[in-house]
Amino acid sequence: MKKKIAILCGGKSGEHSISCVSAGSVAKTLKEDYRIVPVGITRDGKWVSLSLEELCSWSLKSLPEIRPEGREEISLKPAGGLYCAGENLDVDVVFPVLHGLGGEDGAVQGFLETCGLPYVGCGIFASAACMDKHYAKLILKASGLKVAKGITLDARMGIEIAGVLEKLEEEKIAWPVFVKPAWGGSSVGVSRAEKKEDLAPALKTAEKVSWRILIEEGVRGREIECAVLQRKGERPMAALPGEIIPEGAAFYDYEAKYVNPSLCSVKIPADLDEKTGEEIRRQAVKAFEAVDGRELMRVDFFLREDGQILINEINTMPGFTEVSMYPLAWQKLGMTYKQILIDLVESAV
Ligand SMILES: Nc1ncnc2c1ncn2[C@@H]1O[C@H](COP(=O)(O)OP(=O)(O)O)[C@@H](O)[C@H]1O
Ligand SMILES: [Mg+2]
Repeated sequence: MKKKIAILCGGKSGEHSISCVSAGSVAKTLKEDYRIVPVGITRDGKWVSLSLEELCSWSLKSLPEIRPEGREEISLKPAGGLYCAGENLDVDVVFPVLHGLGGEDGAVQGFLETCGLPYVGCGIFASAACMDKHYAKLILKASGLKVAKGITLDARMGIEIAGVLEKLEEEKIAWPVFVKPAWGGSSVGVSRAEKKEDLAPALKTAEKVSWRILIEEGVRGREIECAVLQRKGERPMAALPGEIIPEGAAFYDYEAKYVNPSLCSVKIPADLDEKTGEEIRRQAVKAFEAVDGRELMRVDFFLREDGQILINEINTMPGFTEVSMYPLAWQKLGMTYKQILIDLVESAV
């Protein structure tokens, strides 16, 4: 009998709709080979049952939203698995196609482990470490990888701008700077501050997303992303790096990502000399190992104008629609979207 796979989507983060669209692509592609149990997570965190038809119908244009009305609740039992209407759903594996806080940060991963359910993707530690950009940078630096220069603030006790400006000067951080929430995603809460006066509004924007805030030196260079895949029992391997090319966007912000994608284009493989391309792939695998990755992640880089390679951030559950960087990068190496998904699921069971 075909294995049963629960596909989780939605969730409490700002990336609710994106997760639904990714999950829809995954479900459509796997429904011939597996029995699919679609599970939606509402914006306030309730787990509910969805129909496969609905899940497969979602697209970026429809910006899906999972509402709880009229849906059966899904519950989980410690060491007992997933239940719906009192019945054990008997799933073999869970695919949490979830982005951002509450889904990609170790919380769901820990919950699934408590319930005795195997799942696709990174475990608790890597998920949590990569969700918090401050700690991710600490780990990467400790492993000898380079990251953007910056400082970290705690907004819980209030932020005094004069003190922040002094700190930036002390650390010799050049302007413009990027102000970013530690646990954001999809560029929500990220701003570029050109000058001192831009700092206060940028901090206010970031604070809406997380109380830990990073201020980083603005890196001048290219944005390169590298997909890493690890099949069961094998060493992690990196795909050909891809590039995000701004076609009008000031940076790769929310609008360029989802609202007006013509503001950026994606090129796979990125136009890189062989040595740089190989070095980025090597560093992507090193980053994967540094944070104790499992199965998949996308490592995002800056390639500075002077040739230096910096890691910007790691996404442990990158966008997974058929037109997302992660699957497209593997397709360039001859793997189909379906084969990547099957490899991920089979490695998790
Ligand atoms: N230090 C930096 N220098 C230059 N651009 C940056 C810097 N940090 C972030 N950015 C820009 O902001 C975008 C979003 O920031 P990122 O740290 O990737 O957050 P998110 O998790 O929301 O994607 C990046 O893709 C890049 O365009
Ligand atoms: Mg990013």
